[in-house]
Amino acid sequence: MPKVIAILNQKGGVGKTTLAVHIATALARKNRKVLLVDADPQGSALDWAAARHGEPTFPVVGLPKSSIHKELPALAKDYDIVLIDGPPRVYDVARSAIMASDLVLVPVQPSPYDVWAAKEIIDLLNEATVYKPTLQKAFIINRKIVNTAIGRDVAEALSSYPIPVLQTAICQRVAFAESATKGLTVYEIDPDMLAAQEMSQLAAEVEEMLP
Ligand SMILES: Nc1ncnc2c1ncn2[C@@H]1O[C@H](COP(=O)(O)OP(=O)(O)O)[C@@H](O)[C@H]1O
Ligand SMILES: [Mg+2]
Repeated sequence: MPKVIAILNQKGGVGKTTLAVHIATALARKNRKVLLVDADPQGSALDWAAARHGEPTFPVVGLPKSSIHKELPALAKDYDIVLIDGPPRVYDVARSAIMASDLVLVPVQPSPYDVWAAKEIIDLLNEATVYKPTLQKAFIINRKIVNTAIGRDVAEALSSYPIPVLQTAICQRVAFAESATKGLTVYEIDPDMLAAQEMSQLAAEVEEMLP
């Protein structure tokens, strides 16, 4: 059975799609068989895949439904790792993604608004612990501004929630938006750049959390 990682936050624009695409790429580069499931009705990950010219690194399928947990086992049986790019707002889809997952990652930007808004997804995750006691969860700080303490401040603010914050934060870097325009990732722009290095470090930390 594949390991399933959902990237969820009811708030939009926090980096769910960016992280889903990049973690999927980082793991595919380590020769894992990866499937990316776009669970957002807006279909951003599908748009990203459609903008791409070269060979896809991994397939992307759309499944913006509250039946993900039922449909995924058949769909994902030939893969090592499935990433679910979550939707904003839609609760029933987020619940289904949680039910399908081994690990839920919650991206947050270093802003108090994001810290407050995280309460919604934390409430959903708390609900889930009743029927999924083994579910792993973690925050990822995304768009940290290089050389500022705001990432640390936010990690501190997030410590009032019952889930850990991953060590690796992803910094604010224009290469993320630039690469997405062409259906690419920062790896394809320049695998030696800091953005790619951070992403590989993050993916390694994420893989270690898998049961
Ligand atoms: N670390 C980052 N540095 C710079 N831009 C980022 C970063 N993460 C995300 N973005 C940009 O922020 C916007 C929202 O990100 P996205 O992944 O679409 O969020 P979500 O899926 O949560 O709505 C996009 O334009 C994306 O390119
Ligand atoms: Mg998205």
